Amino acid sequence: MKLLIINGPNLNMLGIREPAIYGKNTYSELCRMIEKACEGIEFEIYQSNHEGAIVDKIQSAFNVFDGIVINPAAYTHTSVAILDALKSVNIPTVEVHISDINTREDFRKFSYVSLYACKTIAGRGFDGYVEAIEYLRASV
Ligand code: DQA
Repeated sequence: MKLLIINGPNLNMLGIREPAIYGKNTYSELCRMIEKACEGIEFEIYQSNHEGAIVDKIQSAFNVFDGIVINPAAYTHTSVAILDALKSVNIPTVEVHISDINTREDFRKFSYVSLYACKTIAGRGFDGYVEAIEYLRASV
């Protein structure tokens, strides 16, 4: 089993960006939590601020990874390209959001990726990534 964990734009700024919403813990701390949750399986953590780079990464996962955990960040609400890339490779995918996108601004309530993801976890902080990894470990 091999999992790909993708984080979209500005998630490298965790700990600095809007701590009242995303918490005080840093992106490195998130990576350490993910590494711990992936103990015993193969995994890769990838972060990019660029939509096309995320599309390239998803395409390169074809026949390589068994599951994807993705927090597309702002691209959640805008990117048909990321949705289409996920549909193209057809790999089981869990969508994660640190904050609860359903209780924030109206523009955050719609997610393109939700149209493909087998599960969406929002508003559980960094623990959402651990839940997503556990879900894929149990179901893929
Ligand atoms: C986010 C929610 C998005 O609306 C926002 O653009 C982000 C992070 C979250 O993890 O809560 O950058 O995906």
